[in-house]
Amino acid sequence: MRRPLVAGNWKMHGSRAENSALVSAILQGLSGDDGVEVAVCPPFVYLADVIRAVKDTPVAVGAQNVCAEPVGAFTGEVSSAMLRDIGCKYVIVGHSERRQIYREDDALVARKFLAVQQQKLTPILCVGETLEEREKTETEHVVARQLDAVLAVAGIGALAQAVVAYEPVWAIGTGKNATPEQAQAVHAFIRGRLARQDANIGGAIRILYGGSVKAANAGELFGMPDVDGGLVGGASLKGEEFMRICGAARS
Ligand code: PGA
Repeated sequence: MRRPLVAGNWKMHGSRAENSALVSAILQGLSGDDGVEVAVCPPFVYLADVIRAVKDTPVAVGAQNVCAEPVGAFTGEVSSAMLRDIGCKYVIVGHSERRQIYREDDALVARKFLAVQQQKLTPILCVGETLEEREKTETEHVVARQLDAVLAVAGIGALAQAVVAYEPVWAIGTGKNATPEQAQAVHAFIRGRLARQDANIGGAIRILYGGSVKAANAGELFGMPDVDGGLVGGASLKGEEFMRICGAARS
């Protein structure tokens, strides 16, 4: 009943030429059935180009970040209204690279989540623990804190129009993915925490796994009962590999 989503997070990669080749490979690789939703999240400057390139196809486009403020004197920032204006569907909020490198805290991530929803876009809320936190058995505590910060300002009802991505920080870009069992345990924890407040929303929300997903491990990760697809970084830059990952979510 939950339609899987595989979203490619291109991070700060690409060029007009590379993006055009990648989008062509994705469009060629689409199977024609709609058992899985495919999305790509290019850097801001390429969003409009990519949106144009996938127009009238099932591929959705998301942004990697957004400003929490609606409009005004915020040099260098991009608002949710602008993302909506050009045709984005998704916006990643709270990616660990934003949290760690750009010092985004739980409260700011929650405000970004709200800003995205106010424009009727769908936030992909990233949560996840560092290696140190996992080793101290704080995984659930950290993920709960990150989720609760959003629930506190947005309310459980807001999660009806959102996607959660569990991305253990130690698995991102390291080649060391969480095992399917490790991912499943945290996904079940997240779903359970949401279901406690609203059983329907907890049951329906898509929870993506992210962190070194590749074609070789996607099948076993997506095969877990609470894993509803993936947020894919490095492997989303290779068209054929990315489409194999999308295929793994379908079966
Ligand atoms: P990765 O990145 O697939 O390269 O590990 C995932 C992410 O950061 O979303």
